[in-house]
Amino acid sequence: MMKYHVLFLIILSCIVVSGFSRNLPITAFDEGYSHLFGDNNLMILNDGKSAHISLDKRTGAGFVSQDLYLHGYFSASIKLPADYTAGVVVAFYMSNGDMFEKNHDEIDFEFLGNIRGKDWRIQTNIYGNGSTNVGREERYGLWFDPSEDFHQYSILWTENLIIFYVDNVPIREIKRTKAMGGDFPSKPMSLIATIWDGSNWATNGGKYKVNYKYAPYTAKFSDFILHGCAIDPIELSSKCDDDAAESKTPSGITLDQRRKMDNFRKKQMQYSYCYDMTRYNVPPPECVIDSKEAERLRAFDPVRFGGSHHHHGKRHRRRSKSKLKEEDDVDVSFM
Ligand SMILES: *[C@@H]1O[C@H](CO)[C@@H](O)[C@H](O)[C@H]1NC(C)=O
Repeated sequence: MMKYHVLFLIILSCIVVSGFSRNLPITAFDEGYSHLFGDNNLMILNDGKSAHISLDKRTGAGFVSQDLYLHGYFSASIKLPADYTAGVVVAFYMSNGDMFEKNHDEIDFEFLGNIRGKDWRIQTNIYGNGSTNVGREERYGLWFDPSEDFHQYSILWTENLIIFYVDNVPIREIKRTKAMGGDFPSKPMSLIATIWDGSNWATNGGKYKVNYKYAPYTAKFSDFILHGCAIDPIELSSKCDDDAAESKTPSGITLDQRRKMDNFRKKQMQYSYCYDMTRYNVPPPECVIDSKEAERLRAFDPVRFGGSHHHHGKRHRRRSKSKLKEEDDVDVSFM
């Protein structure tokens, strides 16, 4: 057990210091994952090196890690379906929603399809201990077409830090703050990948639905990295003492990476919950408001991101119990 922890600690430290995951072992599908739903809309190819999940009229599909993990580095290379993909949602995320109905944790990458000629967008979010009344969504464009080739999407999760990466560029960093309380994910979670019909919200507020004329929509996954403190679902916490691994985890992102992250966020971020005045009269406590960022987002949506006096009376908590809906989002015509 001890050996495992030391090894984990060393490897985790290396990841955090270098930001590169290329030395981490790739897991074959059958070693790390199992089928979740969607019968033969899940296909395992290349000796288990890749998995395809498809959405057609009958069903979406998904797969789930065999183990639960408490902290670690999790990654997959993903190629999204091309052309008309409005209403299609592909998700690569961690959750323990099946075990903790009322106080689950979640760390999400969600990919939102679009009409032909418009790019996919990514959304990130977290929930902790059932904090579903506080969505912490951010949404971004990408600097490439994610349906053209495989790109690596990764989640680093430690006791006090979550970092989302795209092709090893950190795009979002969430530090645990005291004020967040239980809202920071803290219980073991599974890795899950799904494709499903999000017609009622995914693209421009449900304006553009999934069109099954173009089905099947297939998302391709490969290069699975499941590198964390694995916990047997039956034995649960007994197998993993996480604080040994965390105490030496360095502060996270190198200077060079931080520069890249800032650059990415300046260019690509289209939505941030911290600036959404139609949702939060007072931003959640961890938000650090940057006036330049606020100004940039206001250009997308003057009402949502403040600055317009026109809708002040409407600043109530719309939909505070549900996930962010695209209809509350910037219109695609701004992009
Ligand atoms: C999680 O939520 C439950 C109530 O659902 C609460 O009793 C508990 O204290 C919370 N845990 C943390 C760490 O905030």
